[in-house]
Amino acid sequence: MMLTGSSFLQRSVTLLVLAVVVVVQAEDPYRFFNWNVTYGDISPLGVRQQGILINGQFPGPDLYSVTNDNLIINVYNNLDEPFLLSWNGVQQRKNSFEDGVYGTTCPIPPGKNFTYILQVKDQIGSFYYFPSLSFHKAAGGFGGIKILSRPRIPVPFPDPAGDLTVLIGDWFKTDHRQLKAKLDGGHKLPFPDGILINGHGPNDAYFTVEQGKTYRFRISNVGLQNTLNFRIQGHKMTLVEVEGTHTVQTIYESLDVHVGQSYSVLVTMDQAAQDFYVVASTRFTNKILTTTATLHYSNSNKAVSGPIPGGPTYQIDWSLNQARSIRTNLTASGPRPNPQGSYHYGLINITRTIKLASSADQVNGKQRYAVNSVSFVPADTPLKLADYFNIEGVFRVGSISVNPTGKNMYLDTSVMGADYRAFVEIVFENHESIVQSWHIDGYAFWVVGMDGGLWTPDSRKQYNLNDAISRSTTQVYPRSWTAIYMALDNVGMWNVRTEYWARQYLGQQFYLRVYTPVKSVRDEYPIPKNALLCGRAIGKSTIPL
Ligand SMILES: *[C@@H]1O[C@H](CO)[C@@H](O)[C@H](O)[C@H]1NC(C)=O
Ligand SMILES: *[C@@H]1O[C@H](CO)[C@@H](O)[C@H](O)[C@H]1NC(C)=O
Ligand SMILES: *[C@@H]1O[C@H](CO)[C@@H](O)[C@H](O)[C@H]1NC(C)=O
Ligand SMILES: *[C@@H]1O[C@H](CO)[C@@H](O)[C@H](O)[C@H]1NC(C)=O
Repeated sequence: MMLTGSSFLQRSVTLLVLAVVVVVQAEDPYRFFNWNVTYGDISPLGVRQQGILINGQFPGPDLYSVTNDNLIINVYNNLDEPFLLSWNGVQQRKNSFEDGVYGTTCPIPPGKNFTYILQVKDQIGSFYYFPSLSFHKAAGGFGGIKILSRPRIPVPFPDPAGDLTVLIGDWFKTDHRQLKAKLDGGHKLPFPDGILINGHGPNDAYFTVEQGKTYRFRISNVGLQNTLNFRIQGHKMTLVEVEGTHTVQTIYESLDVHVGQSYSVLVTMDQAAQDFYVVASTRFTNKILTTTATLHYSNSNKAVSGPIPGGPTYQIDWSLNQARSIRTNLTASGPRPNPQGSYHYGLINITRTIKLASSADQVNGKQRYAVNSVSFVPADTPLKLADYFNIEGVFRVGSISVNPTGKNMYLDTSVMGADYRAFVEIVFENHESIVQSWHIDGYAFWVVGMDGGLWTPDSRKQYNLNDAISRSTTQVYPRSWTAIYMALDNVGMWNVRTEYWARQYLGQQFYLRVYTPVKSVRDEYPIPKNALLCGRAIGKSTIPL
C-alpha cells in the first residue's frame, strides 16, 4: 500500500514529536537542596532535650518535588557522630546506593557532607524522610516528602487551597542516646511520654485555614512504635491518596495511621467561623496518649471548645475494616496518564511465596527481635558496596530462610536473594500481641489480604485481586497475617524492616537482594561517583572502568 502524501507527513510529524519527547524526558528538571544537620535544643513536651535539626528546623523542611524530578540534596553532618537520611517510600529506581540505610550507603562522618542524587521516577504522593542510623529518629531529623503530578497528568480531585504536612508520632522526653544505651544494654524501651504533631506537644501546633475552602492534609506517622488515630473536630476527611496511589475517595471521621504510613485526605472548612481540635491518640494501648493541635479558621471568633472528640482505642475489627475499605481508584491516573487499574496485578502468576514471621526473644541475655529466627546485625561494610565491589565474606545470600523455621533466634547479617522480574507473594505472620508495621524499600506492593489467625493457602480465596491498595508500608494486626503481591522490577539491595523502631534497631529487618546476572545500566545504575567509601570498600574506585 502506498502512503498518501498527507499520512506520510502525519507520520513524520509523529516521529518528530516522539523525538522531542524523548529528549525532554532525558532532562527531567533538577531541584537543589542544601541541608545543614545540627543538634539544637527543643522542648516539645515541656522538657528541654537535644533535637536533630535540619537548617535549624524541627521537623525538617518539606522535600517538595514533581514526578521524575532529580533531587540533589547536599547534607552537611554537623553532629558529632555519623549520620544518614533515608527516604521512606521513595523508590530510588535502579539506585539502591542512594537509599541512605547502612546496608546500602556509608554513613556521613561528623563534619563532612554527602550529596544524595535521587530521582522521584514515576512516583506521586506523600512520604517522609528520616535519619536511619543509631536511634536518631527519636531526636527528630525527619520531614515530609511531597511528589506532585506533572502538569498535564490528571489528578482525581480539584487543586486544594493548601497542601499541609502533618507529621504525627509518639515521643520520649528521654535523650535519644539514653534510649539507644538502654537498647544496647539489652532492655526494652518504656512507654512513650506523649505524641507530637509537627514537632509540637499538646495544643501547640496551629493550622490556619480559610472558611469554605478545601485543604489537603498529608499525614505521616513518623513516630517510633504506636499506631495513632487521627481526626479533626467537626470535620470529615475524604481519603484521596495513600503512599503514592490515588484511592477510592471514601469519607472517614477518623483514620488509623500505623507507624511509618502516610495518607492524604481532603478536608473542607465547612463549619462555623471558630477554632477546632486536631487530635492524634494512641491505638491498642492500655494507657491512651492524646494530643491536640488547633485548626484555626482565619475569620474565627471563638477558641477551641467542647470535649476533645474521642476515637477508637482498642478495637481491632474497626481498624481491619477500615484497612479493607482503602482501595485503589482504578480509573484515576497515577504518575502516568494511563489509569492505575491498567496494570492487572491479579492476573499475574506468582513465581514464589515468601513467609515472614516476626518474633521477640533474648539472645545472650539481651533483648532482640527477629524475622524467621534471624536477628539482623550490620556488617563492617554496606552490603550494597560489598556486592558492587565483589568483596567476599561480608554477607551470604540465603542467610535468612524464605519460610519460618521454628529455630531459636540467632544473630546474622541476613540477606535474602530474589530474581529480578519475579512476581512474589509475601505473607507477614504476626504471632504476637502488638501491631506490626512492615516497610519495603525500593518498592510499592499490593496489600491483597489481611485477617486474624493463621494464614493457609485457603486464605487466598479472600484476596482482593482487583483494586487492592498499592503502598510501601503495611500493618499486621496482633495474631494475624497480611499478604502482599510485589513485582520485583527494581534491581538492588533493599531494606525490609519493621517500622517499630526499637525492634528495627534490635534486628527485626533484613535485606532483599533483587538480582540479575546481566549487568546493564538499563537495570541498575553504577555506583555514584561521589559515593562515600567505608569498611572494606575503602580504597576502591567509584569511577566506572
Ligand atoms: C551549619 O550550622 C552550624 C551551626 O549553626 C554552622 O556553624 C555551620 O557553618 C553551618 N554549615 C553550613 C554548611 O551551613
Ligand atoms: C560536599 O559538598 C560540595 C559542595 O559544597 C560538593 O562539591 C561535594 O561533592 C559534596 N561531597 C559529597 C561527597 O557529595
Ligand atoms: C476515581 O477517579 C475518577 C477519575 O479521576 C473520578 O472521576 C472518580 O470520581 C473516582 N472515583 C472514586 C470512587 O473516588
Ligand atoms: C499462569 O499459569 C497458568 C497455569 O499454570 C497458565 O495456564 C497461564 O498461561 C499463566 N498465565 C500467565 C499470564 O503467565
